Amino acid sequence: MKLNFQTNSTSDTYSLETINTSVESFKKSERYDFIRTLEDKNLIKSTIEVFSKFKDRKDFVQIGIGGSSLGPEMLIKAINRTDVNFYFLNNIDTDNTFETLNKIDLKNALFYVVSKSGGTAETMAQMAIVTNRLIEAGIQESDLPNYFVFCTDPVKSTLKDLGEELGIDMLHVPSNVGGRFSVLTPVGLLPALFAGIDIELLVNSAHDFATKFIDSEELKKTTQSVLNLYSDGVNQTVLMPYSSKLRELSFWFVQLWAESLGKNINGKRIGLTPIPSYGATDQHSQMQLFMEGPINKLMFMLHVEECENTISLENNFNHGKLQKLKQYSLKNLMDAEFFGTLKALDEQGVNYIHMGIEKINEKSLSELILFFEILTAITGISLELDPFDQPGVEAGKVYSFEWLEKSLK
Ligand code: PA5
Repeated sequence: MKLNFQTNSTSDTYSLETINTSVESFKKSERYDFIRTLEDKNLIKSTIEVFSKFKDRKDFVQIGIGGSSLGPEMLIKAINRTDVNFYFLNNIDTDNTFETLNKIDLKNALFYVVSKSGGTAETMAQMAIVTNRLIEAGIQESDLPNYFVFCTDPVKSTLKDLGEELGIDMLHVPSNVGGRFSVLTPVGLLPALFAGIDIELLVNSAHDFATKFIDSEELKKTTQSVLNLYSDGVNQTVLMPYSSKLRELSFWFVQLWAESLGKNINGKRIGLTPIPSYGATDQHSQMQLFMEGPINKLMFMLHVEECENTISLENNFNHGKLQKLKQYSLKNLMDAEFFGTLKALDEQGVNYIHMGIEKINEKSLSELILFFEILTAITGISLELDPFDQPGVEAGKVYSFEWLEKSLK
């Protein structure tokens, strides 16, 4: 991965020494487990065993929310070499659930229920709905293990208890790996296998990258840019890959950045607001704001150097722009828009980091994942907050149940 910095901060609040201290304390903490588990061959082995049992299923349905869905969605959108149909029941929208379930060939489907905590209301609700559908379709309760696989915490979880009761195959999310850091555990590895992704290559590349990046100058420089710009009031972070296949990477990043870094520390409200975007499409949507709006954004501008396919723009139209385009390829046009936009951002004084990957494959994808996960962890620790908790969403959950109970009275 290539990194090129066009950042201009006036503050020097965060020194390289501070960041180094954050790195060293992170390496000793149990939260380093999202990197340590990349060495755990059993996680890959158990996932492959489960896959072998169900590998002929044509419909793969992931039931989960937040970190139990966004990572897998990102992987499958970036690389899918099979004709398996993927569905993500990642919300409790009644009509969407109804329509999605009607599309699924129930008897030819595998339902992968993922919840780290094992009790998330949205996920439990979807699992109950799917179970009802299967029973209505004539499937016996004793036959449910033929349709479900569960993935949850190995120690304590309602989903674990239920799975054991019903005899359902179970995969595990290691206890110290939180939802938004779990994509390279069975959470994302099982759907990845159904998409024809080489998960050993994915995980080994992630491990190689992580163990080098954690001690690198690039990590320190990127973290320092993020933090010193934040001290200058640059508190919005844009991720803009120039690729449709990496669009979901932006949504995965949003959860990672927002849930990890938005915290109330003894009344001091901290946070960098993530903005998902993708090029060239969003040049016709958000770019005007990025260019001429307030200088309060750091943009990660991500370029993919090579495509799998070539499409020529050759044409027989004798008209203005069409004439000009005819000697180029669609990829040339994408590159021109990317580099043209960088030049314009330079002129406007917008802060950006130009990231480059050669092509979209297991290696580059795992590097992007680990780049943002480690950056998030070190940024959070340097801001003296806990990037691995999310206390701010608890009150809303409690009040929702209160509301639900009152609504029946
Ligand atoms: O990052 C997190 O921990 C959360 O966003 C979770 O992924 C999300 O709340 C879903 O939780 P669970 O996997 O426990 O159902």
